[in-house]
Amino acid sequence: MVKAVVLGAAGGIGQPLSLLLKINPLVSELALYDIVNTPGVAVDLSHIATPAKVQGFLPPDDGLKKALTGADIVVIPAGIPRKPGMTRDDLFKINAGIVRDLATGIATTAPKAFVLVISNPVNSTVPIVAEVFKKNGVFDPKRIFGVTTLDVVRASTFVSEILGDLSLAPSVKVPVVGGHSGVTIIPLLSQSSHPLPTSFKAEALDALVNRIQFGGDEVVKAKDGAGSATLSMAYAGAEFAEKILRAVKGEKGIVAPTYVHLSADKAGGDAIKKEIGKDLDYFSAPVELGPEGVVKINSLGKVTEYEQKLIQAALPDLATNIEKGASFVDAPK
Ligand code: NAI
Repeated sequence: MVKAVVLGAAGGIGQPLSLLLKINPLVSELALYDIVNTPGVAVDLSHIATPAKVQGFLPPDDGLKKALTGADIVVIPAGIPRKPGMTRDDLFKINAGIVRDLATGIATTAPKAFVLVISNPVNSTVPIVAEVFKKNGVFDPKRIFGVTTLDVVRASTFVSEILGDLSLAPSVKVPVVGGHSGVTIIPLLSQSSHPLPTSFKAEALDALVNRIQFGGDEVVKAKDGAGSATLSMAYAGAEFAEKILRAVKGEKGIVAPTYVHLSADKAGGDAIKKEIGKDLDYFSAPVELGPEGVVKINSLGKVTEYEQKLIQAALPDLATNIEKGASFVDAPK
């Protein structure tokens, strides 16, 4: 029996993500929480002929606590999305407080749940969740994840487009590491399961890296003020949640890039710090998942000189984003 909870379930990501969780056979109970509209979304989804029992909750009458009671996995897509011209960091002012309050609810009601943070800026919101958990004495770095899967999904799609065969997209695997915004998104294309054509030029590589790093901007621009990626994000979030659920059920060898506190696997985390040459607390790396969450943080593997430069370019932003999130929780409200 697995209870999944979506916080921000009535939003652009929350609704399709809740749909995908409702049709996931590994989910037996689904609780939807938002500040608006969850009763309607829940009744709508509840008519789908799959086993998961769906309930919607709003803030009155302890709705957050009721939604979270007995949760095994909590996915957080609550908060405002970007509009054209905004960076993910511009969302911090509003989303930091939302994530802090939701994390407090999880820490006090379902401290053992796996927490999957989608709300941006992920580089900072994950440290916020961790600090809230520390404050409540329930911090377990093996159970808190920043969802960077959309960057991985985009890399698979864009590489398969370059290879001229979209049918390859589901099987193209590219590790994307670092963080989840702009230059902190580092695709390790030299490790792609499907190598780029040998004719691929340096400028074309620059363009591909840039497209993966700023793929979110393509969506923001095309939506023209109506928000950022929602459907592809729901797909990516459901894919990552499914990996966690399969690992919990005992499936071995599941590895996914995700943004974690590097103490989740001390030896692996220390090795990453050596590889990047900086003592950061958080980094997105390929993580092996198991019944208790993080089993092992894998090495970044063999990176090219070009990729090492991308890593070095990411570190200042990452360090600033982490510090901003980590120091927010104790800052005056
Ligand atoms: P949206 O505005 O469509 O939905 C957000 C939902 O959060 C709304 O239904 C809103 O009522 C709800 N909400 C606001 N405050 C809340 C609170 N205190 N408690 C519970 N729910 C609350 O936004 P959208 O497009 O779904 O994006 C959500 C977040 O996901 C944004 O921060 C966005 O930047 C982020 N995102 C992350 C990606 C990733 O790769 N990690 C990719 C795309 C978006």
